[in-house]
Amino acid sequence: MTGIEIIGTGSCVPEFVADNNKFSEFLDTSDEWITPRTGIKQRHILTDKPNYSMGVEAAKRALEDAGTAPEDIDLVLVSTCTPDFFYPAMSCLIQKKIGAVNAAAFDVNSACTGFITAIDIAHKYLISGHYKTILIVATERLSGQLDYTDRSMCILFGDAAGAAVVRASDKPFYSMLGAQGDEFEALYCKINYQSNCPFYEDQSAYYNNLFDTFSKQNYLQSDGHAVYKFAVNAMAKAVRNVAEQAGCGIEDIDLVIPHQANLRIIKKATEMLSIPSEKVYTNIERMGNVSSACIPVCLDELRSAGRLKSGMRLCFVGFGAGLTYGACLFDA
Ligand code: ACO
Repeated sequence: MTGIEIIGTGSCVPEFVADNNKFSEFLDTSDEWITPRTGIKQRHILTDKPNYSMGVEAAKRALEDAGTAPEDIDLVLVSTCTPDFFYPAMSCLIQKKIGAVNAAAFDVNSACTGFITAIDIAHKYLISGHYKTILIVATERLSGQLDYTDRSMCILFGDAAGAAVVRASDKPFYSMLGAQGDEFEALYCKINYQSNCPFYEDQSAYYNNLFDTFSKQNYLQSDGHAVYKFAVNAMAKAVRNVAEQAGCGIEDIDLVIPHQANLRIIKKATEMLSIPSEKVYTNIERMGNVSSACIPVCLDELRSAGRLKSGMRLCFVGFGAGLTYGACLFDA
């Protein structure tokens, strides 16, 4: 076995919808500004539950779709950059709620690249024969990390979860991951540490003092222009890399599912690669950017709509805080 097969998918999208007009009620912004610059018309927000509740729902749906019993899952692998706890890992909470009693569980955090990181890890475990069945869940509640007085950032993100059950297969699979930690200031969100440790010099704000070059705010901070430039080049580089590994041309890819950060980024990167828009799937208009959940939610939409045909060559490509990026190429 050299590759993987996705045998089931699921997703969970919160009911509450905030369209662009809702933001104009409390911010100096408008649908006329947001739509042409981002492609986003609305996003869903989880208003009344913790993040992991979406992951549980997406996981249950993926197991049902796969026809897999929770006891048969060997590993619950969760991607999130918006965890409910420092610990335990979100994967442990999800493992408990779905009854995956025989599974190991851990989380990965490579922000918006997280689902690709998780699938890359799953691939290694599966082809080695160490595990037979892995449940990957990406669950993200960005709404809790945003400053709703910052009109350039808070309009971009939403909340959702996506999940996939994966097994080893003989189908081809190629992947790559990259990181440019030297640019991490372009996108970060500090942890809101509070300590009563008597040995700290300034107990009220020790973290700010240690990292005084960064924002004092515990909200998502981003240099939109820097991220834009990085994203376009990283996406093109990652797709070229996996196509080269596969020994195929970019034109041989049937469908690209990109991270949904901004429609303009997706258009620019896919234009650079000469990929026609009909081969690129997007849902950013309805969902906004749901970080590492973007790709598995898209995947579940496509699978539910019967648009994934056996033998189709799929490419997932993403980028995110870190800065990180990655892609994988495989046959459906
Ligand atoms: N409504 C109205 N005006 C706005 C808004 C808004 N929501 N946001 C910014 N503006 C204003 C700015 O204040 C600025 O006004 P000024 O000229 O008077 O100072 C003007 O619009 C232009 O601002 P820019 O930041 O230059 O706007 P730009 O066209 O570059 O778009 C954006 C900003 C959408 C964030 C863009 O830089 C971008 O797409 N960056 C990509 C990065 C990104 O998506 N980051 C977050 C996700 S990261 C990830 O998923 C990994």
